[in-house]
Amino acid sequence: MILCYKKNYRKIILCTNCLISKNKEINKRKWEDVIEVVNLLVGGIKNMICFDKESINKLDHLYRINLINSCTGFKSANLLGTIDIKGNKNLAIFSSITHLGSDPCLICFILRPKSEFRNTYDNIIEKGFFTVNHVNKNDVGDAHHTSAKYPKNVSEFDKTNLEEEFIGDFIAPYVKSSKIKLGCKYVNEYNIKENGTILVIASIEELYIDENILEDDGWLKLENAGTVAINGLDGYVETQLLNRFDYARPKKEEGG
Ligand SMILES: Cc1cc2nc3c(=O)[nH]c(=O)nc-3n(C[C@H](O)[C@H](O)[C@H](O)COP(=O)(O)O)c2cc1C
Repeated sequence: MILCYKKNYRKIILCTNCLISKNKEINKRKWEDVIEVVNLLVGGIKNMICFDKESINKLDHLYRINLINSCTGFKSANLLGTIDIKGNKNLAIFSSITHLGSDPCLICFILRPKSEFRNTYDNIIEKGFFTVNHVNKNDVGDAHHTSAKYPKNVSEFDKTNLEEEFIGDFIAPYVKSSKIKLGCKYVNEYNIKENGTILVIASIEELYIDENILEDDGWLKLENAGTVAINGLDGYVETQLLNRFDYARPKKEEGG
């Protein structure tokens, strides 16, 4: 079965788009008809569905968000805990937290355009510190709910079963149930002019890890933490370790 959305087949693109946008449950029979027609017209790669740039641009808005958010693979699932100068706490889910370097220990994340209020960002700028808390499998529903737009004076800790935890003299709230948590300090930011997002850079100031997760060589067995990953914008998955490997070196030439 080949489905190829290419420039020359605009009629088919429009047809599939309206099927997608009008019926949440895509009418399977019609969908298969379309595939059959395209199959006749296009030479493609067997069992692969192909979208070119023009057809992506024409997709139904939500369909496109789902497609593009899923196509780069699984992302990390973290809750960012912050507090403002008045003591209002905030918790929000982020899927863009990424390791930036180990020496110095830096992380980064992408903040959506500031066209609307962004409590997490504003609090980070006000106080300079925030926490990053792994989402574990028992918390996925509540973690997802933190993406709801609550006003600044409403804490997501009060709207979910996620409990706040202040550790030592770190000023930002941690998530109690989280088994891996980082205390971070704002370092810098870069505006991404291509789409108005902001790349925020932060240093790791402290790190809390459940003792069952830390291996002898410093590696964290994340599946023991029940840490989940995110597929797209609304799918949460458990993980299972397949293997760990030695540091990879080039293969020796045969007979060399
Ligand atoms: C699965 C998921 C991942 C998200 N990842 C990000 C992200 O990486 N960056 C971002 O700016 N917003 C992200 N969001 C949206 C924020 O969670 C949402 O805007 C939230 O309301 C921000 O809260 P705040 O205004 O309290 O900061 C994500 C939402 C979901 C559901």
